[in-house]
Amino acid sequence: MTRARILVTTPIPEPGPSLLAAAADVTVLDAPPSYAELAALCASGDYDVVLTQLRDRIDAELLGRAKVRGVSNFAVGYNNIDVAAATERGIVVGNTPGVLTDATADVAMLLILGTARRVVEADRMVREGRFHGWEPELLLGADVSGRTLGLAGFGRIARATARRALGFGMEVLFAPRPPGDRPVEDAELGEFAGRVRKVEWGELVASSDFLSLHVPLAEETHHLVDARVLARMKPSAILINTARGPVVDEAALVEALRAGTIAAAGLDVFEDEPLLAPGLAELPNTVLLPHIGSATVPVRAEMSRLSALNAIAMAAGQTPEHAVNPQAWSEPVRGARSSS
Ligand code: DGY
Repeated sequence: MTRARILVTTPIPEPGPSLLAAAADVTVLDAPPSYAELAALCASGDYDVVLTQLRDRIDAELLGRAKVRGVSNFAVGYNNIDVAAATERGIVVGNTPGVLTDATADVAMLLILGTARRVVEADRMVREGRFHGWEPELLLGADVSGRTLGLAGFGRIARATARRALGFGMEVLFAPRPPGDRPVEDAELGEFAGRVRKVEWGELVASSDFLSLHVPLAEETHHLVDARVLARMKPSAILINTARGPVVDEAALVEALRAGTIAAAGLDVFEDEPLLAPGLAELPNTVLLPHIGSATVPVRAEMSRLSALNAIAMAAGQTPEHAVNPQAWSEPVRGARSSS
């Protein structure tokens, strides 16, 4: 019996490698492939499934030539993959939902506290020998307790952030589907009923002391926070982004931070990762992290396990537990070799 063949574009932590090796012939690339290299590998007919990272661009053109039957993304987000094109080609896409909710909410809270209390400036001052003893006006920051946190979106990570913020004594508002709206009943709010308040996007922008973004990247949310939105925020407000970089117009943000339109920003994601908008890195009123929302040892192990299990199921011709587009296989699989 022929073994399934799985391509892994970047080494991943255990237990994924052991699970994959037990089930398939596995090829792990040592260095991240260029777009052209990955397109050629996917088109080669040498692999049944490819296990990808967020930086692997799996667009309609690549999918149009691909001979794989599945793409298993090592992430909950899948904006790097053209899912409509994959579905059209009969290619199933998998992701890793649920396992990184708390870790990412921790980073949102860390950015709220870190920007409010100017932690990067403070750390630098100590390391550079510029701390000469306690002073009444040294590095004064903003309060967190008693201030208003506005959540753009109210999915899993936003709710986990709300839980933390309520613990810090913050008032929590949310807009469920910015820039649009939708009704939200108390039953849907569950534990948050009576503890958080739904408002429209415009009100959220204007009344938040901290505006934290928790929306997927889509056409409607691309540059959700642009120069006009920044201008409607309080001059004392702080923007937090642990979602996706392109949700913010980063050049407009640099301008707003320079001009004092808003007070600060805490970012774990960037518009053109790993590049930063010109001027962003020089601004003292920012805390900048290298997309580490899910970067804990246990969480990355779970992401590894889920993405490996998704890939193994796909390679065996079974719809994986975490399929983004299970309908891709509701018709006979096209463009992929038959299961062995
Ligand atoms: C995801 O999974 O989508 C995160 O952005 C990276 O862990």
